[in-house]
Amino acid sequence: MTVVQGFGVDIGGSGIKGCLVDLEQGVLEGERLRVETPQPSTPEAVCAVVAGIVTSFGWTGRIGVTYPGVMKKGVAHTAANMDKGWIGTDVDAGMTALVPGTVETLNDADAAGLAEMRYGAGRDQRGVVLMLTFGTGIGSALFVDGHLVPNTEFGHIQVDGHDGEKKASAAAKDREELSYPQWAKRVDRYLDVLEKGLWPDLIIVGGGVSKKAHKWVPLLSTRTPVVPAQLQNDAGIVGAALTAAERIDH
Ligand code: BGC
Repeated sequence: MTVVQGFGVDIGGSGIKGCLVDLEQGVLEGERLRVETPQPSTPEAVCAVVAGIVTSFGWTGRIGVTYPGVMKKGVAHTAANMDKGWIGTDVDAGMTALVPGTVETLNDADAAGLAEMRYGAGRDQRGVVLMLTFGTGIGSALFVDGHLVPNTEFGHIQVDGHDGEKKASAAAKDREELSYPQWAKRVDRYLDVLEKGLWPDLIIVGGGVSKKAHKWVPLLSTRTPVVPAQLQNDAGIVGAALTAAERIDH
C-alpha cells in the first residue's frame, strides 16, 4: 500500500514548523504549526518543541525532521546557525525518546531539494540540479539524475574572503537593509564563485525570498538557468515527511 500521509518538522534558526503532509500531491494537509525557536537553541529545548508539535497533531507514525546543519546517520556535525551543543548530538536517538513515531533526520536544504525534485521545479529534471535555499544561511542540495548527494555545504564557500552565506543569505539582506537589486549583486557574485567549481544544468532557488523571485532572479548573470522553487517555505516539511515515508537513503 502506498503511504499517502506523512508528517514533517522543519527546524530553523528562527522557527520550528510542523504539519501533516499529503504525499500524493506534495502539499501540507491543513494548517501548519509554527513555534519560535527557543534561545539558546540547545538540542534539549528544540527537541522538546518538536515533540510538542508532533503530539499536538496526535501523530504516531514515522516523522521526518530537518536540521540546519550536516546530519549523518542521525548525528549533527555542524551548527552554523544553531547552538553549538548540537555538534555530535545523536538527534535521532534524542528525538525517538520523546516522540511516539520513528524519527528520520536530514539536512534542511536536502529535504527542501527532495521535495522540489519530486513535486516542484525539479520534477523530471535529469543531469546536475542544484537547489539553494536562502534564509538565515544558504543551504544547498545537489542532485545527479534525481539522486541526492547529501550534505553539500555550498553556503560556506569562500567568496572574496568571506563565508558565502554571511553576505548573500536572506538574513544578510535584512540585516543590512539591502534592496533586491543590491542583494542580487551579492547573490550574483556568490553564484559566480560557485559556478567556477560546479557546472550544474539547473539551479533552483528557494527560501522565503523565492516568493519575490521576479525582483532578483532576472538580475542574475549566471550561465546556469535559475528558476524559483515552487513549494517555497513548505519544501522542508514536505521533504522531511517524504524522506520518513520512503526512508530515502541519505
Ligand atoms: C548550514 C547548512 C544549512 C543552511 C540552511 C547553513 O549555515 O551549514 O547545513 O542547510 O545553513 O539552513
